[in-house]
Amino acid sequence: MTNPHPPDWEEARSRFPVFERKTYLNSCSYGALAVEVEASMQRYLDARNEVGSDWDFWVERNEAVRNSVARLIGADSDEIAVTASVSAAINSVASALRFDGPRNKVVITDFEFPTNAQIWYAQELRGARVIRIPEENGQIPLDKIAAAVDEKTLIVATAQVCFRHGAKQDIPAIAEIARGKGAMTLVDSYQALGTLQFDVKQAGVDFVVAGMLKYLLGTAGIGFLYVRQDLIKSLEPTVTGWFAAEDIMAMDITGYAPSATASRFEAGTPPVPNTYMAEAGMEVLHTIGLEAIEGRISELTAAIKEEAIAQNYCLTSPLDPSQHAAMVSIQSSNDNQLVACLAEDDIVVSCRDGKLRISPHFYNNHVDIERLFRALRKYRGLLV
Ligand SMILES: Cc1ncc(COP(=O)(O)O)c(C=O)c1O
Repeated sequence: MTNPHPPDWEEARSRFPVFERKTYLNSCSYGALAVEVEASMQRYLDARNEVGSDWDFWVERNEAVRNSVARLIGADSDEIAVTASVSAAINSVASALRFDGPRNKVVITDFEFPTNAQIWYAQELRGARVIRIPEENGQIPLDKIAAAVDEKTLIVATAQVCFRHGAKQDIPAIAEIARGKGAMTLVDSYQALGTLQFDVKQAGVDFVVAGMLKYLLGTAGIGFLYVRQDLIKSLEPTVTGWFAAEDIMAMDITGYAPSATASRFEAGTPPVPNTYMAEAGMEVLHTIGLEAIEGRISELTAAIKEEAIAQNYCLTSPLDPSQHAAMVSIQSSNDNQLVACLAEDDIVVSCRDGKLRISPHFYNNHVDIERLFRALRKYRGLLV
């Protein structure tokens, strides 16, 4: 629902103390820490001292994360598994798939973060055949995906937004291609969620994975998996654990009876401290609203691109705003050195693959962008 009052962005920014010291433009790597998120961790520590073991409350925190994720992506809570990482989520899905039937092909692209490639290559030991679609001019052409997906394809597993340069894929179109051939779609939305509106039902995808430490403003050590309702009961993860059981408290050691919900993709004890921070981080986003956040980020990325072009820097993200998310990247001749030089000036950014990654969130402002570009003029020799 649209919030009738436009957010006060400077007030929102004031809740992130890092800006008192740093020009922080690195949310693609780690989101800034909100005072609410910091306080949530303190609440966890206080409970350890005051209550001791507060298991019921801790389990409720895990459920709160599940509900909050469901709200974020338009899913039902029963379709969400809370995991320790994106890697744990993908492994759990992969462990439930069989590659010894007529479908053994896994289609990935050059946009993948290593974990969403390596896990699928590991399944080649179990009969999978991985096809990787190359990047062309910073994009993965849809027609190349369509040509690769056939009746032998089991799953298309791909990133919504590339972690190296920020280009975004047309996920509904990819899901339609996969569905047309009877294949499933898994989307790694880690570089997207928290920056844009995304509805899993409208997108028509089967699985979505993401973690909480970047634009979702939580912390490391927690992630989630969305599994489309109709698929849940047909998949039995073999990477599992007691928190995946139908009745956790049955303490059954005589067999395997997975939950009827997506929690069958979970494993061991939930990451309790991290659930506090993840819940608080997502609450910050829900309170502001993803529509407003998406608009704010577009305004900031447009300003970054405009200045990069004005300075004749080599932009490696798409020019078209509909084709990138919150990250804008610029080619560097020595990206690690450039990041280190900027860090000396208290400007926090990151790099991958020779590119400087500039990744604003709603808490950034035009002063941050001016500071960054003033510093970049100083280090012009490290840009192409
Ligand atoms: C797109 C993407 N996927 C996956 C990961 C890693 O996920 P995890 O460490 O939770 O397995 C990252 C981390 O930077 C990422 O950017």
